[in-house]
Amino acid sequence: MASSSSEKPAPAIRPANGKLGVLIPGMGAVTTTFIAGVEAVRRGLAAPVGSLTQLNTIRLGKRTDNNSPKIKDFVPLASLDDLSFGCWDIFPDNAYEAAVHAGVLEKSMLDQLKEPLERIQPMPAVFDHEYVKRIDGPNKKPAGSKMDHAEMLLDDIRTFKEKNDCERLAMIWCGSTEVFNRPAAVHGTLKDFECGLVKSDPEISPSQIYAYAAIKSGVPYANGAPHLTTDTPALLEFARDREVPVCGKDFKTGQTFMKTLVAPGLKARMLGMHGWFSTNILGNRDGEVLDDPGSFKSKEESKLSALEQILQPELYPELYKDVYHKVRINYYPPRGDAKEGWDNIDIFGWMGYPMQIKIDFLCRDSILAAPLVLDLVLFMDLAQRSGMRGVQEWLSFYFKAPMTAPGLYPEHDIFIQLMKLKNTLRWMKGEQLITHLGLEYYD
Ligand SMILES: NC(=O)c1ccc[n+]([C@@H]2O[C@H](COP(=O)([O-])OP(=O)(O)OC[C@H]3O[C@@H](n4cnc5c(N)ncnc54)[C@H](O)[C@@H]3O)[C@@H](O)[C@H]2O)c1
Repeated sequence: MASSSSEKPAPAIRPANGKLGVLIPGMGAVTTTFIAGVEAVRRGLAAPVGSLTQLNTIRLGKRTDNNSPKIKDFVPLASLDDLSFGCWDIFPDNAYEAAVHAGVLEKSMLDQLKEPLERIQPMPAVFDHEYVKRIDGPNKKPAGSKMDHAEMLLDDIRTFKEKNDCERLAMIWCGSTEVFNRPAAVHGTLKDFECGLVKSDPEISPSQIYAYAAIKSGVPYANGAPHLTTDTPALLEFARDREVPVCGKDFKTGQTFMKTLVAPGLKARMLGMHGWFSTNILGNRDGEVLDDPGSFKSKEESKLSALEQILQPELYPELYKDVYHKVRINYYPPRGDAKEGWDNIDIFGWMGYPMQIKIDFLCRDSILAAPLVLDLVLFMDLAQRSGMRGVQEWLSFYFKAPMTAPGLYPEHDIFIQLMKLKNTLRWMKGEQLITHLGLEYYD
């Protein structure tokens, strides 16, 4: 095997033996579409479209070597047959009922998966109405301090692992978006955070209690929503100490996915931009929660940051200094999960002549998000078996607001993110990294 050109030696990867338990706070549209999809793929009823771990290949060596195995044959990933699912939600519906309610998948498909879905009953949630204002439900943990709730979650995690005979676990947040908050004093160090849990500090959100319990249990934690969760000094310190990988934030699906495809292309050609107006209509429960200004603020921050980072106005003031960027999300119940996102982009070319681009993306939010959940769970488990800990920047590919080491700006360009992801896999296996220099073909 060729040795990696990275300075850091390739890790020894533990094998993916036994079952991987997937723990998910929030059992709504994304979660049920993900679980139903895995069950459908297992039964040969559907294909895992959109998943890199299941479909994508990775080139090894020179282009002339013709060696491009599937990613899942190159690195040892848990197989879909080895996944079992455990969820928490404030609504007591089982996964079949929740999937019918979400209205993403056809009833005829769900009926074929009724038996495995009905078996998934959500555990009572740690919930705080101050953090998600538009919804409430009865399936909650009994009253107690935030530390009591963390201990109840630790218990849930232990019990799930034993009952389902899991070798390893991974947790991924697919719950509602919490209201916007910035790191506070209580997020400074682990000691501050644990004191805050005991005192039920109002600055500690439910998602942070789940993340604390995950990290304490040695379980990797991914954040599919835009709120902070592990992106604080206290929980990052904890993750590194416990050798636990973490990543986030906010699945990169509909409109921001489009933005990170189009914007790097315009910038690559040095075309200028006056403005980018994005608006959405969606009518699912996520849309209802985002109708609250606090939750929308979390989303807005994560959506706005991508464009600025890609265009780098500080390097190209003549092209991008005054870009007017506006993002709107409108809750419109008739659409359900079938979102529509419009983009109007005002660009300019040679000698400043203006042009316009219009995008109308009739997408299905949860259909786009489900394969991301699958890949993240499998890659986070791989990262842990490879001894990687703390922020997993190589998984930026999946997020609107990628977490990075303190002081580093996030990489938003999806093609750079993909290269980073694949080079990380090559590095893990001690293969040569691919730089795309290609001079050797012309010697
Ligand atoms: N679908 C996408 O394309 C997409 C993209 C990016 C981010 N997201 C984020 O993913 C998350 C899930 O999206 P969705 O469409 O499935 O939403 P959803 O409203 O259908 O499901 C979220 C579920 O979380 C539950 N919940 C809320 N707070 C909880 C808590 N503290 N503990 C346990 N459960 C809790 C709710 O009851 C609900 O059932 C949202 O935060 C959304 O913003 C989704």
